[in-house]
Amino acid sequence: MFSFFKRNRQPRPIFEPLGTDMHCHLVPKVDDGSKCIEESVECLNTLKAVGYRKVIITPHFQHPRFPNHEEDITRRYEELKRQAIEAGVEIEFGGVGGEYRIDTGFKARLEQPRFLKVGGQYVLVEFSLHQPMMGCDEMIFEMQMQGYEVILAHPERYPYLNVHGSRMEQLKNQGVYFQCNVLSLGGFYGDDAKKRAYEMIDQGWVEFLGTDTHNTMYSQALVDITHDRKVAKVIETHDFLNKTL
Ligand SMILES: [Fe+2]
Repeated sequence: MFSFFKRNRQPRPIFEPLGTDMHCHLVPKVDDGSKCIEESVECLNTLKAVGYRKVIITPHFQHPRFPNHEEDITRRYEELKRQAIEAGVEIEFGGVGGEYRIDTGFKARLEQPRFLKVGGQYVLVEFSLHQPMMGCDEMIFEMQMQGYEVILAHPERYPYLNVHGSRMEQLKNQGVYFQCNVLSLGGFYGDDAKKRAYEMIDQGWVEFLGTDTHNTMYSQALVDITHDRKVAKVIETHDFLNKTL
């Protein structure tokens, strides 16, 4: 049945309790994610095989690297959905959101907001992976004032954001939801990100988990992580909000 798995390891459906993956890059050719429909289909089949029932796809919106527009992304998402269903993909499509980078171009978005939301309610944002940008927190506050629920993608991946530092606490106090990457728990992004992800989960600061699947290298890592007992236990013992999406 799972002929698309290259290694001998078979997937275990450990992500069933989450229900929905709410962070992945599987609209082909719009960002650094999937490069073609075949790759998207393979990744979507893997998401289903590891236990997800539904997927919400979140292309990058990052100026000028990925100058995506909401209308075009929505059109391409619908095309992906049509082709994937035709190819026999069984996972349910839960819509298209975005992963919005808070950078110098972000202020302009706030003046004419038309965010693609995750689950009709949340906007997924990310920071620079390398250095903090001045005014990030104020822009999130502005979004909240406009009525958006904000999810910060993979806070464990920002080396400048100390888990025990006041800024992290300030974001939580401000009502920002945190989404950790499941692959961080297996060390995919290095030991530091792994340690920080577990620390944040232990603090009770993580409301969502996402796969952040970009391509088949990620989806294979996802299959591998289904054999990690510690990860399975985290999913079994925590009440993540993925299931509400
Ligand atoms: Fe992402």
